[in-house]
Amino acid sequence: MKMSVGLRTSSFAKLNRCVPWNLNVRKYVSDQLLADGEVKKSRIPLNIDTNMLKIGFLGGGKMAQALAKGLIRAGLSKGEMMLASCLPTDTGSIETFKEMKSNTVFTNVPVIDHGDVLILSVKPQVVPKVLPEFRIHDNKKLLISIAMGVSLASLEKALPKETPVIRVMPNTPALVGCGATVFARGKYASDKDAEITEKLFSAVGICEEVPETFIDPVTALAGSGPAYIYMVIEAMADGGVKMGLTRPIAYKLAAQTVLGAGTMVLETKLHPGQLKDDVSSPAGSTITGVHQLEKHGLRSAIITAVEAATLRCKEVSSQTEKN
Ligand SMILES: NC(=O)c1ccc[n+]([C@@H]2O[C@H](COP(=O)([O-])OP(=O)(O)OC[C@H]3O[C@@H](n4cnc5c(N)ncnc54)[C@H](OP(=O)(O)O)[C@@H]3O)[C@@H](O)[C@H]2O)c1
Repeated sequence: MKMSVGLRTSSFAKLNRCVPWNLNVRKYVSDQLLADGEVKKSRIPLNIDTNMLKIGFLGGGKMAQALAKGLIRAGLSKGEMMLASCLPTDTGSIETFKEMKSNTVFTNVPVIDHGDVLILSVKPQVVPKVLPEFRIHDNKKLLISIAMGVSLASLEKALPKETPVIRVMPNTPALVGCGATVFARGKYASDKDAEITEKLFSAVGICEEVPETFIDPVTALAGSGPAYIYMVIEAMADGGVKMGLTRPIAYKLAAQTVLGAGTMVLETKLHPGQLKDDVSSPAGSTITGVHQLEKHGLRSAIITAVEAATLRCKEVSSQTEKN
């Protein structure tokens, strides 16, 4: 089922009023990751003029639409400069691109011809059908793949020799401009290609360069993470309802509390344990609740979930590679 990106964008507008995600949050995340010494941050100034870039979306589904909307909203591109391939049956996506003043086509070759940068945004199982279309054209345009589980090596093998490829893992909050995206560059991708990728995906949240080996754990943490947090929000709201709150206020407060707590971690740069201690007064109600969460294994459940999801990603990737 297709999601309505338009609806989510209006939620983003509200969100953006209370969270300066595009400025402070990005900066704090970058600093923190660097402090941990784990992530290779793009260290080059973003000085390219992406306003002039023609973007081609191979597959015009919900991630492509989210990205297209983010790029327009951030003033990095114009709808008129984008072209997306959509199946004739996918009238919803065609309509969404039309609303952005973007053209759509039913085949991929015109998109390959059109784009300065090509975004491979079809489902992973469709990737092997699309890549041979590049051979015919033998071009060396930057290809950014967001397909889950498709490695740089297999993309490079299927593409014309020395095609610059970047593998990206976004997450669905990109739909509201709060995405957490990482990317890894292929053998032939240059600093400029990395710079373009970072700039494009920073338009829909934060974006960091990582080694490709990070992609599976990132998928398990940031890609699957929203699902875990939706469960937490639902459970917190259920608790509120059990104790007498109405559903609408319970969901709203639970969601805003998650948003606020995440922003506190990013903006104060304090350890989450410190922030937890700060709200847990002696013999108070918060420490009583915290004790219950410890008793019921909240931390262990989440650690195990990220571990299991990573292993599942690896399994899916190796199946995709075999096919
Ligand atoms: N959604 C996420 O949270 C997320 C996160 C990270 C990465 N990704 C990756 O992003 C990619 C796209 O995901 P999505 O959620 O945007 O999926 P989606 O909404 O299903 O988008 C894929 C689009 O490609 C179209 N398509 C199918 N065959 C095609 C072909 N031969 N040529 C051109 N287009 C074709 C589909 O049309 P029909 O619908 O008519 O088949 C659909 O509109 C996937 O590889 C996924 O792994 C998604």
